[in-house]
Amino acid sequence: MKAIIPAAGLGTRFLPATKCSAKELLPVLDKPVIQYVVEEALEPEGVDGVVIINSHDKPEIERYFSVDDDFESMLRSRGKGGLADAVHAASSLPVSFVYQDEPLGLGHAVHCAAEEVGDEPFFILLGDYFVPDRQMCVNMARVSEEHGGASVIAVAPVPADQVSRYGIIAGECVGSLPGFDATGEQEGAVWKVTGLVEKPSPEEAPSHLFIVGRYLLSPAIMDLLANQGAGAGGEIQLTDSMERLLENEEMYALVVDPKDGCDTGTPAAWAATNARMALASDTFRAAFLEELGAAAKDLA
Ligand code: G1P
Repeated sequence: MKAIIPAAGLGTRFLPATKCSAKELLPVLDKPVIQYVVEEALEPEGVDGVVIINSHDKPEIERYFSVDDDFESMLRSRGKGGLADAVHAASSLPVSFVYQDEPLGLGHAVHCAAEEVGDEPFFILLGDYFVPDRQMCVNMARVSEEHGGASVIAVAPVPADQVSRYGIIAGECVGSLPGFDATGEQEGAVWKVTGLVEKPSPEEAPSHLFIVGRYLLSPAIMDLLANQGAGAGGEIQLTDSMERLLENEEMYALVVDPKDGCDTGTPAAWAATNARMALASDTFRAAFLEELGAAAKDLA
């Protein structure tokens, strides 16, 4: 079973930093953002590989996940065995690449991995967000198992004035994740999805639950994506094919707390994520607080 990470975007929100290096390789502390997402993707039982949908303009992502014996030997010869191990660990992850040549939308990007996915259900993890405890996809797999292997997406409540930024679901609450006594929009509630709309106006939105960017989908979605027309924003939308999938298959949504994850989609969110991860890190916390204390003194 595979997990897909679309990573062919231009990274315009981070320009000029992303003019000649991929936003997916921006570090959170000492590791690139995309490595956190890859490690999260490999957590659910049964996932044995990650397929990154890349653009030919960003060969550095594939290079990052490739073995570089000379570089590792150089580090070891300088007594930096620990760093060599960290470099090697990244290149040992089961990651493969497919390339999207035209930026036609998320649905088009996902369809680029149709051959790699084959006849198995698969995860999609959007790369501007990662979940440090890696449990969100694991819980989605539990919901899927309870419902005969149906597709499951993660959703969360969003204020009415922000629905037009996201995919929004229609449906009804039908239960909760084992161990959660949740209903409605509470974390752990499980909904049966009856409709999906990409970037609706507040008047059109059928609920206030938005798609968070974690999907466990039936392989049947690939045939639908193959002939999906352009939707919101003129792009081939994954959400539109998911809406068509509902004609033949069941789909469920797990309500999650988006704050279980870290946002890296804008410079401000990325900076806050670095701070949050530094405070949670035994390696970096003390030095980070010292640096921050010095900066705060300068401000006072
Ligand atoms: C994509 C999806 C949308 C989802 C969002 C989550 O939109 O199309 O349904 O809610 O990710 O971040 P994008 O952010 O690419 O516009």
